[in-house]
Amino acid sequence: MIGSDSVIHCEGLSKRYRGSLLRRSYLALDSLDLQVKRGEVVGYIGPNGAGKTTTIKILMGLHRQTSGRAEILGQPVGSVAARARIGYLPERPYFYDYLTAEEFLHFYGTLYGMSAQSRRQRIDELLPLVKIEHARKIPLRKFSKGMLQRVGLAQALINRPELVVLDEPSSGLDPMGRMLIRDVIFELKRQGVTVLFCSHILSDVEDICDRVAILVKGKLVKLAAVDSLIQETMHSVEVTVRGFTTEELSKISAEQPILLTPERATFSTPDHESATELVRRALDQNLKVASIKPRRETLESLFVEHYTAEDQDRGANPEGNQR
Ligand SMILES: Nc1ncnc2c1ncn2[C@@H]1O[C@H](COP(=O)(O)OP(=O)(O)O)[C@@H](O)[C@H]1O
Ligand SMILES: [Mg+2]
Repeated sequence: MIGSDSVIHCEGLSKRYRGSLLRRSYLALDSLDLQVKRGEVVGYIGPNGAGKTTTIKILMGLHRQTSGRAEILGQPVGSVAARARIGYLPERPYFYDYLTAEEFLHFYGTLYGMSAQSRRQRIDELLPLVKIEHARKIPLRKFSKGMLQRVGLAQALINRPELVVLDEPSSGLDPMGRMLIRDVIFELKRQGVTVLFCSHILSDVEDICDRVAILVKGKLVKLAAVDSLIQETMHSVEVTVRGFTTEELSKISAEQPILLTPERATFSTPDHESATELVRRALDQNLKVASIKPRRETLESLFVEHYTAEDQDRGANPEGNQR
């Protein structure tokens, strides 16, 4: 047994899809090392085709890796023991649309061998959590995309899993739908559930995750705590003050404001310390501090950076990773 304190443990995990007469084989996942500890929420991000779903399918025992090792909760992936403790929302879940929301969840609960009473109890907990209590008796064919996604989420939680794996849960949802997914993940975190959450939308994972793993073309290019990533990508802190005279402004900073109107002056400072110092001086002058905003590169730009670097590498080797 490897990494028994890890909920997910991948070591040198690779997947090469076999080619056909017309298509060359394709290395979709290249030597992934990834460990997820109990209670962690990890965002697994990368552009379309990066290999996120491939990784998840291997972890769920739906695809076999070409090489490397993968264990979940100390068990080899695909084992019945491991599966019973995992909740999984696929990228494109299939819904038996003649069933009502409630029947659908009962059906999944039965697959996990739950008794009628524990299914009822769990469904009563889950429907309010995903906010579809009002629609429990309605057939799924009448559900909107957002409502279906919530049923999918409830299905992934029916067996009170210790690990929840969500493949692009917010994809195609409106802001309200996204917010709900986020709230549910927060609640899972509060309960100590481990979550692996795939997305190509980086801002989705920024707020929720403890750590972020960035996958580009099958390769893990970054694995970092969200906080340190935010720190790393921060390039300035902007402080805006109100209610000043020109003389007071010159007292709080030697630098000129980057933005000046009769009501507001915004200064750019290099870091939090200098921003704090500027705020202190502004307060000493009895000015009002309107806002303090860290300016940083978004995770998107970080990821584009890697993407471009990778693409340039591929330019030097036009065969890319195809063989
Ligand atoms: N069954 C398959 N056979 C061949 N190639 C596949 C198969 N599934 C995925 N791929 C290829 O592997 C790469 C990674 O796909 P995927 O894991 O779905 O990426 P992501 O989920 O990050 O968008 C893509 O280039 C995709 O076309
Ligand atoms: Mg995918």
